[in-house]
Amino acid sequence: MLKGKHIILGITGSIAAYKSAVLCRLLVSAGAEVKVVMTPLAKQFITPLTMATLSQNPILVDFFNPENGEWNSHVKLGEWADLYLIAPATANTMAKMATGVADNLLLTTYLSARCPVAVAPAMDLDMYAHTATQRNMEQLQRDGVHIIEPGSGFLASGLSGKGRMAEPQDIVEAVKALFGEKKKSLEGKHFIVTAGATIEPIDPVRFISNHSSGKMGYAVAEALAERGARVTLVSGRTALDAPKGVERVDVLSAEEMYEACVERFVASDGAVMCAAVADYTPRSVADEKLKKSDDDLSIELKRTKDIAATLGAEKGDRVLVGFAMETQNEMENAQSKLKRKNFDFIVLNSLREAGAGFRGDTNVVTLIDEAGAEELPLMSKRDVADRIVDKIEKLI
Ligand code: CTP
Repeated sequence: MLKGKHIILGITGSIAAYKSAVLCRLLVSAGAEVKVVMTPLAKQFITPLTMATLSQNPILVDFFNPENGEWNSHVKLGEWADLYLIAPATANTMAKMATGVADNLLLTTYLSARCPVAVAPAMDLDMYAHTATQRNMEQLQRDGVHIIEPGSGFLASGLSGKGRMAEPQDIVEAVKALFGEKKKSLEGKHFIVTAGATIEPIDPVRFISNHSSGKMGYAVAEALAERGARVTLVSGRTALDAPKGVERVDVLSAEEMYEACVERFVASDGAVMCAAVADYTPRSVADEKLKKSDDDLSIELKRTKDIAATLGAEKGDRVLVGFAMETQNEMENAQSKLKRKNFDFIVLNSLREAGAGFRGDTNVVTLIDEAGAEELPLMSKRDVADRIVDKIEKLI
């Protein structure tokens, strides 16, 4: 499936380097051509001979071959690659990558690489949790590096916690995902996603609405569809095209969105409620355009139906995910919505964070369920969508 892909496998000095042998083998068996770059310390953990045999290519460690002076061109290597995968990536190497230090071939190759770069961190739990490491990883993410998250469990230090390099098979899945070959883990499942702003008419030309662009909901629909789910996107007003393979049902008002969702929910496996639904709508809609007068005008509003709460009441074992956009008492409000609407989890956006909220392409969110809260760093709405779908995958 990775047929013909050129992958540089970078190995740094971590005990997890023993897993790089299996990783290399899996990549080669999947059809990739692999060239291995090692840091000098990595050679202490796994022999170049092992890696050369498995990759069927010479191992690159030094800037030049000490025996014949032949230059190992990191520039050519960077141009050759379709992906640069550094696994394991130590805290030290990630710190150097984050700051642009170039004191070995693995790092100069990073600076020369024009292809996507992914790292699979491996270290002790305290090193992983340290503010410096977390800051460096955030910097790498901002620089476009994909982080293949470590797992939790027994560590070489004898301690137990988060920091263990992802298993080779999971790294290969992540690599395939980077090449657009997503695991079809939600095949046979059907999800409803609401997105965009509702429009509540006042008269034939005026309406009440909000600033929602629909980008977050469309990203969730795309992420679900890429994993093989059938997706019905119940969409309020947006300027976006439906993602590939997604069925779109266009609605205007909160009432229309309610009808479209309730009708489909029973036969579905779940719903993700991303839409910004009006909580109030004009009590009556004028048949003709309202003419102005010298007096002020009041419009009487009535409550709309709460779509999420209605689905929550008949949820059964379906998955239901909500969103909360708050400007104050964020955590408390989100937790109360989680319970009130019977969500499995709720995605909290804070309008106070830079890079979060309505029209942009990025978001800063916290995923909250009964067990606790997971704050995610600033990331693209599409990456946030993948994290939401990861969580749905675990629930389904
Ligand atoms: N929602 C919905 N139908 C509504 C209102 C909200 O499905 N009529 C969904 C939203 O799509 C979102 C969640 O409920 O997933 C939270 O919506 P929000 O408007 O933030 O919360 P409310 O419960 O309406 O509370 P408040 O307006 O007081 O913040």
